[in-house]
Amino acid sequence: MRSTYLPYGRQSVEECDIQAVVDVLRSDWLTSGPKVSEFEESLAARVGAKHAISFSSGTAALHASAFTAGLKPGDEAITTPITFAATSNCALYQGATPVFADVSRDTLNLDPAELAKKMSSKTRAILPVDYAGHPAELDAILQLARNRGLIVIEDACHALGAEYKGRSVGGIADMTVFSFHPVKHITTGEGGMVATDHSEFAERLRRFRNHGISSEARQRQNTGQWHYEMVMLGYNYRLPDIACALGIEQLKRLDANLARRREIASRYTTAFRQIPGVIPPSIRTDANPAWHLYPIRLELEKLAADRAQVFRALRAENIGVNVHYIPVHLHPYYRDRFGYRGGEYPVAEDAYLRLISLPMFHGMTDHDVDDVIMAVGKVLSCYAA
Ligand SMILES: Cc1ncc(COP(=O)(O)O)c(C=O)c1O
Repeated sequence: MRSTYLPYGRQSVEECDIQAVVDVLRSDWLTSGPKVSEFEESLAARVGAKHAISFSSGTAALHASAFTAGLKPGDEAITTPITFAATSNCALYQGATPVFADVSRDTLNLDPAELAKKMSSKTRAILPVDYAGHPAELDAILQLARNRGLIVIEDACHALGAEYKGRSVGGIADMTVFSFHPVKHITTGEGGMVATDHSEFAERLRRFRNHGISSEARQRQNTGQWHYEMVMLGYNYRLPDIACALGIEQLKRLDANLARRREIASRYTTAFRQIPGVIPPSIRTDANPAWHLYPIRLELEKLAADRAQVFRALRAENIGVNVHYIPVHLHPYYRDRFGYRGGEYPVAEDAYLRLISLPMFHGMTDHDVDDVIMAVGKVLSCYAA
């Protein structure tokens, strides 16, 4: 058994990150300064989008995207139940109704056939999620959206650097949302970004994060103006220069981080193919996942234990396993408000009973990876039916 606890995700912060933050602390601009646009331009270039607009979190970025898509009371936004609640909550923030559609059995991403069944005259937006870092079926989803004039907001909070049909996610959907929480591929502490090719959307997103004001502080300082106008209701969702400086340094290591995550995933998958009772995550031929998570599914039919027992046994081995996700419609808030009882999304609900996220972060050593593989092998052989 491991002597120390191995978390499921963890940031890597290096001396250059710390120095970049210290430099900003000694500068004139702690927020709304030059590091914000530098981080945004670097990220837009990396993901192949014309614009990137930073936010104080991925959740704020989702809220701004829902606003920008025009979601309002009476509208519906369709998403997947296998996600973090922030995805569907962004529709609620706008007074709209989230509608769930079941997932594909292999990737656990929004199933386009199920999505089509849930579309109605009220649907205004679709929110696919790149679960675990595997891109959603974007072409099929965009096709359905284009046929009806709907807006696609891709929740790529798991998928910075993932590729779909050879293109980076970020330049494909109408708006693509990223998160820089410490367990993600790069971090700013808290933080998020929306990538988009639409100049009009970019303008609305910028205003929304800055109280609905038509110009930003640095613009006014540079042009020597004091006058500004609040033209719509917005929020303070700004990401400060301190965080952006960290993001700029972290982004320089994104490719190395992705390469390490892909290496770990490949070692895991090779090992787990040999262990009865484990189904490793599958990869579509048109996808190159970013591996935010490595979620295995248990073949409960081959085990004399349920997921909770396997989970506890792995934690007892000091392996920081987790579960992503309790299907969103099964949370008490959603049950109480929308009357869900369970049974509505059979593929998602069956997957939930089997899912365990194993440790996956770019700072893991080979030794850490071996510890996880050994612990999984040990626990599952103990529980073999
Ligand atoms: C799929 C998904 N969407 C949205 C978010 C929200 O991002 P943040 O924590 O940056 O607000 C998360 C956070 O983990 C997430 O996993």
